[in-house]
Parts: sequence; C-alpha cells; structure tokens
Amino acid sequence: MGMKASPSSAHGRPGSLRRIVGAVGVAGVVATALMTAAPADAAASTLAAAAQQSGRYFGTAIAAGRLGDQTYTTIANREFDMITAENEMKIDATEPNRGQFNFSAGDRVYNWAVQNGKRVRGHTLAWHSQQPGWMQALSGSSLRQAMINHINGVMGHYRGKIYAWDVVNEAYADGNSGGRRDSNLQRTGNDWIEVAFRTARAADPSAKLCYNDYNIDNWNWAKTQGVYNMVRDFKQRGVPIDCVGLQSHFNSNSPYNSNYRTTIQSFAALGVDVQITELDIQGGSATTYANVVNDCLAVPRCTGITVWGVRDSDSWLGAGASPLLFDGNGNKKAAYNSVLNALNNAGPSPTPTTSPTQNPGAGQIRGVASGRCVDVPNATTTDGTQLQLWDCHSNSNQQWSSTSAQEIRVYGNRCLDAAGTGNGAKVQIYSCWGGDNQKWRLNPDGSIVGVQSGLCLDAAGTGNGAQLQLYSCWGGNNQKWTWNRA
Ligand code: G3I
Repeated sequence: MGMKASPSSAHGRPGSLRRIVGAVGVAGVVATALMTAAPADAAASTLAAAAQQSGRYFGTAIAAGRLGDQTYTTIANREFDMITAENEMKIDATEPNRGQFNFSAGDRVYNWAVQNGKRVRGHTLAWHSQQPGWMQALSGSSLRQAMINHINGVMGHYRGKIYAWDVVNEAYADGNSGGRRDSNLQRTGNDWIEVAFRTARAADPSAKLCYNDYNIDNWNWAKTQGVYNMVRDFKQRGVPIDCVGLQSHFNSNSPYNSNYRTTIQSFAALGVDVQITELDIQGGSATTYANVVNDCLAVPRCTGITVWGVRDSDSWLGAGASPLLFDGNGNKKAAYNSVLNALNNAGPSPTPTTSPTQNPGAGQIRGVASGRCVDVPNATTTDGTQLQLWDCHSNSNQQWSSTSAQEIRVYGNRCLDAAGTGNGAKVQIYSCWGGDNQKWRLNPDGSIVGVQSGLCLDAAGTGNGAQLQLYSCWGGNNQKWTWNRA
C-alpha cells in the first residue's frame, strides 16, 4: 500500500514524513516503524541542515575573540554553515598601517570556519567606517589608490577561498534623498563603487561580489530605491556585481515590513543573488523571524541567511535587545524554533539560475573555446587518470554533478581532483575524500577555480584528447565552461 513508500520516494522533502505519519493516523506503531525506517525524511534538526534542503545556507557572524568559548563554538559549529568575520576582515583590522597587511585575526576566523567544513563570506573591503587612521586622513586620488590597493591586498590573500565578498558597504545615505552617503570615499568621485567592483572582480574572479547595506529592506524607502537603481545601472553597463546583501537589522526605527519579499524579488529580478547578511531583530519576535525566512525562501535567488551573532550576549546590540536565536546561556529561543520550522517547511529547491555559481545539477561540462566536453578517457574509473576534452556525448564518463561540498563528481564517487597546486598540475579523477584539491568554485564568468590552488581549470588545447590542467586564471575561453544540465 502507499504507506510503504520508500524513503527515497520523497527524498529530502521533510513535509512528506509528516504527511505519511498523518495518513497512518492512529496506527502509531506503524508510524514509529516508518520514522525509524525513513530517517532521510525526518525534518532537519539544525539551521544549516534545514537550509541546505532548499540549496541555501544559514550563517552567523563570528568574533575571533570568542573562539575560545566552548559554548559559543559548539553552537556555531552545530548550527551554521556560512561564516562572516564580525570585525576581523575589515579595513582597520587587515591594513592597520598603509601597505602592511595583517590577516592574523581574519585567518583565525577563516581557519575555524574551513576546518569545520563551513564556507566564508568576506566582510568588507570599501567602507566609510572602521577605516584605519592613515586611511581616514587620505583624500582624492591617493585615497582612491589606497582603496584599490586594499582590495587587491585582502582579496589576493583570500583568493579562491571566499564565497562572497561585501565589496562595498553602506555607501547610501539614510533618509529621503535616495543618494550616496557623504564620505571620504564618495568625495573621490561617484565612480568609486564601480571601480571597487571592477578591481574586486580582477583580484578574485571566484568570489561573488556583493553590495551590502542596512535600511534597504523596505521597498518603499528612498535608500532602497537608490541602491536598486545603482544595481540596475551596473547590470546594464556590465559593471561586475553578483549579489546584494540586505543587512536586515530590524528595530523600532527600521521595522520589518511585509514588502520585504518585494524588495528581495525586485533585486533578484535584476539578475543578482540576494543574501540576508546581518539579520537581527530587536526583541527577537519569533513571528518576524519566520516572516523573514519565508520571504527569502519564496525567492529562488535569495541564496542564504546570516544572523549577526550566535547568542544574545554576543550581539553588538547587547543582550538586553534579545535580537538573536540563542539566549545568553546558549539555549534555543522561540525564534530559533520558528526559523527551523520555516526552513523545514520550505518548498522545492531554488530553480537553478543563469549564474553558474549555483549548483548546476548533472550534465556535461563544455569548453567554450573548444566546444568539447570534459571527458574521462576510455571511461576508466582508475584514480589518477588525467581528464581530457572530447566530442560531447551523453555517456556516463561525461556526466558531472556538483555537490554542496563543492565537489564535481563523475560516476557518483569519483571527483574532479587537482594533482598539485601550480601551473600545469594535472586535473584528474580520484576517489572523493573531501580535500580542498577536490573543491571547485563555479564562477559567473564560466571559470572553474580550484579552492586549494586558486588556479583555473584550463584546457591545454582544443582538439580531442587535449589535456586538462590547472593554470593561472587569465580570462581566456580555454578556461571557460558551460554546464549542460541533463
Ligand atoms: O576589541 C576592542 C576592545 O579591545 C576595546 O576595549 C573596545 C573599546 O571600545 O573596543 C573593541 O572593539 C570593538 C569591536 O566592535 C569588537 O567588539 C569596537 O570598539 C566596536 O566599534 C566594534 O563594533 C563593531 C561595529 O560593526 C563597528 O562598526 C561591531 O562589533 C560589529 O558587530 C558591527 O558590525 C556592523 C557591520 O560590520 C556592518 N553593518 C552594521 C553592523 C552593526 O553595526
């Protein structure tokens, strides 16, 4: 009978177990047996796992100074899969003296995240605030050049390692003008934001590039419209921008509004991802938290949510504001349960978009220069076999799928694997084992970048049998790939 549906029949759809159990009704014994037999259908029990069901992430800000607090790290490690350094990658932290970069605190947060299997958002490269004294004292072309050097220095250090950078932070004015905020950066010329984005794209082509701001959540606010117009203009003129970060610090002066979903939809419709980057809600209303999550879930290009701290006591607002999902003792609050439930009740996975940075599903990987596909020679499964280009066909040795762990798999259990980190290192198949040499970033420009090396998947020719290797990314079509979904 239908009740005996196999676990895979509703794979990953958490609502289905509840429907099955409900249909069983009073036959509690059967229901219990089904629950035991079908754990894959159980609702996820952490925020990250629940968000992953729809292809999204759930992140938190992390402060390096709290990494010694075991309650803090236990919760953070268990619940979140995307990490933002709360202060440690900002300008004053990373370039305290002009031209002298310091990544010690940033790396502590980065390493903790990666060692625990999490991805990292970079925050932030160009901002009027938290500038070191030397930068505050600059103006005009020397400040412009310092901004460019800073972006190159920080993005160079983390090249290939960051999911998305908040390239420019908080550049728009509060109030009714809808215009730019006055700042030393703004006074270098109105083009400072696009210069920052162009610099960022060149510095690390593998990172998504975001504009991030607060008070751009309410669709009716002038500031929201100002940022929207800038993003639309950037997309029209080809200024590289991949995402908009809605900080979403909600409080009585900037409350959640039901038009938030319209805001997310409107930005997404411009062809950028939307990320909720610094969520906190003064008072911690469980209903408002659920509304925010549901609004993101309603828009396929809303790709993830980050809360701005772990426990109330970790918040920049102070514990009294009760703005986060865990109380000062690390207990789950009502808001936590409402967020988890909302994530577990999400609809189907987001529809793949045109951005190759999202999970493209299974299919052939076709070289733009050659028109030929990434191919395992002779359909061998032997570890260490170097990959080649070959005329595209539909056999299994050209069927690749990307995973949420950033692997690119063939035959289900073999991974695209870099046999080194330098130019010319061979790209081969190898049994999947979770190493960084088997992780790849899929970029908006079609390049595929090795996480360990920061180098691009490169075809050393265009004909049948041309070998695949790593090589410094240079923007050529032999380093660009399209994924033909099955
Ligand atoms: O670490 C020092 C400490 O040694 C010193 O004794 C103390 C004295 O004031 O300051 C400490 O540094 C503070 C730091 O947070 C770490 O707690 C800084 O003063 C303080 O300015 C800094 O505040 C940060 C704030 O950005 C600065 O603009 C908050 O932690 C951080 O949560 C907040 O985050 C921002 C986002 O970057 C951008 N969007 C808004 C968001 C909230 O303001």
